[in-house]
Amino acid sequence: MRLTYIAHAAFYLESGDHRVLVDPFISGNPLAKHKPGDFHPQAILITHAHGDHVGDAVEISKRTGAVVISTFELGELLARQGAHTNAGNHGGTLSFPGGSVKLVPAWHTSSYGENFLAPGVPAGLVVRFGGKTIYFAGDTCLFSDMKLIGEEGLDIAVVPIGDHYTMGPADAVKAVRFLEPKIVIPCHYNTFPPIKQDPHQFKQMVEEQTSATCLILAPGESRDF
Ligand code: NI
Ligand code: MN
Repeated sequence: MRLTYIAHAAFYLESGDHRVLVDPFISGNPLAKHKPGDFHPQAILITHAHGDHVGDAVEISKRTGAVVISTFELGELLARQGAHTNAGNHGGTLSFPGGSVKLVPAWHTSSYGENFLAPGVPAGLVVRFGGKTIYFAGDTCLFSDMKLIGEEGLDIAVVPIGDHYTMGPADAVKAVRFLEPKIVIPCHYNTFPPIKQDPHQFKQMVEEQTSATCLILAPGESRDF
């Protein structure tokens, strides 16, 4: 399974003939080296409605036929814009070509567009793909039910560390203790001035205080697992 950190909270997963985009904020993303046209997913997984997560999902779904998976209200909204959607809700596991995703809680808000429509609530994603279990926390604060998510048996946990809109580095280290992944990948930092962080400091805290290995990826960088 190949994982590419596009930038911010956007990731691309590839395994065999299967390809999955997560939170595809690509055009307008100041750190992204890719363009939306670089990606040919069969599934697009979205944590919540904020523009830095929905990103180019509708356009890519229309171009590729990829199914957009999210919580229910956001799925209905994106379907009206022409996306191919399969919307579920917390606790549900939805299949896509090559894998599945369980939608789990995340503590955050979720609004869309100029009028701040609030389509449903955010989710975290427990993705089973390419023989690995990967948790994308989405935008969230720390919450103790992450212990339950850890019981899924996580190979990789992708956690925000930017602070301001999400948990910051200290709470993200506590999250790693609850989640007990083998590998933790920080995201949602350094894209905008309010979320400036030093990921190397986070890595040091993770590796001193937990048994996980912290993998810092540069925008555009890929790693095989
Ligand atoms: Ni958000
Ligand atoms: Mn965000």
